[in-house]
Amino acid sequence: MAFSIFHLILLSICCLSIQTVLSATSCDRGYYLEGANCYPCTPGNYCPDGYRQLPCNPGEYQDSFTSSSCSACASGYYTTVSGSVICNICPIGFMCPNANQDPVGCARGTYQDSYGSARCQQCSQGYYSTTVNAHQCIICSKGNECTRPDQAPLACRPGTYSYDDGSYSCLTCPTGWYTTQNGALLCSICPEGSECTRADQPPTLCRPGTYSSSPGSTCTSCPSNTYATEYGQVSCKPCPPGYECTQSDQQPRACARGFYRDGSMTSCQRCPTGMWTKNTTSVRCETCSVGYECPTTDSSPVPCRIGTYASNINTASCLTCSTGFFTVETRSIQCQRCPRGYYCPQPTSNPLACPPGTYSDYKQTVCTKCDSGYYAPNSTSIECLICPRGFACAIPSVLPQVCPVGTSANYGAVSCSACSQGYYSVKNSSAACTPCAPGYFCDTSKECPKQCPIGSYSSAARSACYQCTSTCSTVAGVFDCSTCITAKPTGCQQF
Ligand SMILES: *[C@@H]1O[C@H](CO)[C@@H](O)[C@H](O)[C@H]1NC(C)=O
Ligand SMILES: *[C@@H]1O[C@H](CO)[C@@H](O)[C@H](O)[C@H]1NC(C)=O
Ligand SMILES: *[C@@H]1O[C@H](CO)[C@@H](O)[C@H](O)[C@H]1NC(C)=O
Repeated sequence: MAFSIFHLILLSICCLSIQTVLSATSCDRGYYLEGANCYPCTPGNYCPDGYRQLPCNPGEYQDSFTSSSCSACASGYYTTVSGSVICNICPIGFMCPNANQDPVGCARGTYQDSYGSARCQQCSQGYYSTTVNAHQCIICSKGNECTRPDQAPLACRPGTYSYDDGSYSCLTCPTGWYTTQNGALLCSICPEGSECTRADQPPTLCRPGTYSSSPGSTCTSCPSNTYATEYGQVSCKPCPPGYECTQSDQQPRACARGFYRDGSMTSCQRCPTGMWTKNTTSVRCETCSVGYECPTTDSSPVPCRIGTYASNINTASCLTCSTGFFTVETRSIQCQRCPRGYYCPQPTSNPLACPPGTYSDYKQTVCTKCDSGYYAPNSTSIECLICPRGFACAIPSVLPQVCPVGTSANYGAVSCSACSQGYYSVKNSSAACTPCAPGYFCDTSKECPKQCPIGSYSSAARSACYQCTSTCSTVAGVFDCSTCITAKPTGCQQF
């Protein structure tokens, strides 16, 4: 028994009393009883029990006749009144979670771009909406971030950027880049000579002693043997030879006199002992020449004084001549050997001649006295001579003295010896006295032997003759009275 709305209109106009012919006490479901008549339940209502017609509750509708129940509004539809024939579609910008309540405007951060929605959409990441009832969200413009979809975009803070529209959050500048502005689209690269340790701060110039050679890099300490005294350097200057740069943020320091530095050394070094420098800022040490001494590295060479020498280069102090050597010149490379016949008590003076009576070999500081029996009559003697036979050398500084008649001397005598009794020497410089011959007598050693007179005799080396007791009283010069044999003395010219 369904009636269309069209039928209902027909009934209402011309046939309203059709049912009255049916006298009833209850109706079918979908109909209601009024008086004795059953009427079809009209749209907007429902007739659950054949008696009553009730309006649809808010949130429900009925668009047909003869309904025993109402239908809930479809999702996204609503009606807030009773007796609805239709539900209202939820408008855009709104949501209708409850069919019996008015549409609820989309909250900030949400939107709805379609009709008939039970829920609003969250703004997509990188979009926002600060108004209610939004049909759509707004894309976050570049230079901003939209971490909260219900709030207006926030400009990127210094140190961050967003290059594209629709950023959820700004990106931190990469290492070596920076921006100090709000709302940056891009970061700037840190220029060379600077560093950007904080992306939200302007670049800071590299301090003295540091540099950065390429954009986006950090400041690095100057390498060994380089320096930078200015801020903002892109490179460090090489330390010039003769200077040192142990503190790379300061000007090179000149090597002090006595110190040097070539390009490869890390600091000024004192010259080796015996070497020197002419001035400050030296790149090398000078050689100390032979004949000079260099007691300190910071002063010029000093000529060796007399009595000293330096045979090697780079001598710190000249050496005193060895014993028996000398030099009377400055700048000596070596000392001279004291010659034979001289002595050298001081290395600083010329050799002195050995006086007569003394001698010397090479390298002597004193002369040696001649031994007893020797002599050296000249100065500068290199040896003493042995006193010859027949001479005496009591004073070694003079020539040997002739042994006079009546005396003699063998080699090396200090004095002449008088001839013994019975001996004689009748020549100057005799080496030995002669024994008196048998048959002769020598009452003085200075004269030749004398013949024993007749009737007397003598054996050898007698100073007197003896009386014979027997024969030979007629022969002179016998040495045996019994045989009367005579002899002849030697060494005397008169024989
Ligand atoms: C050392 O060098 C300086 C500068 O070069 C110069 O003026 C000075 O005369 C030099 N001194 C000597 C002792 O050479
Ligand atoms: C001493 O000197 C003289 C003169 O120079 C020389 O003739 C003589 O041979 C020298 N005597 C000795 C012992 O050297
Ligand atoms: C010995 O020497 C002395 C002094 O020179 C001289 O007077 C004397 O005649 C010499 N005697 C002989 C024997 O030659």
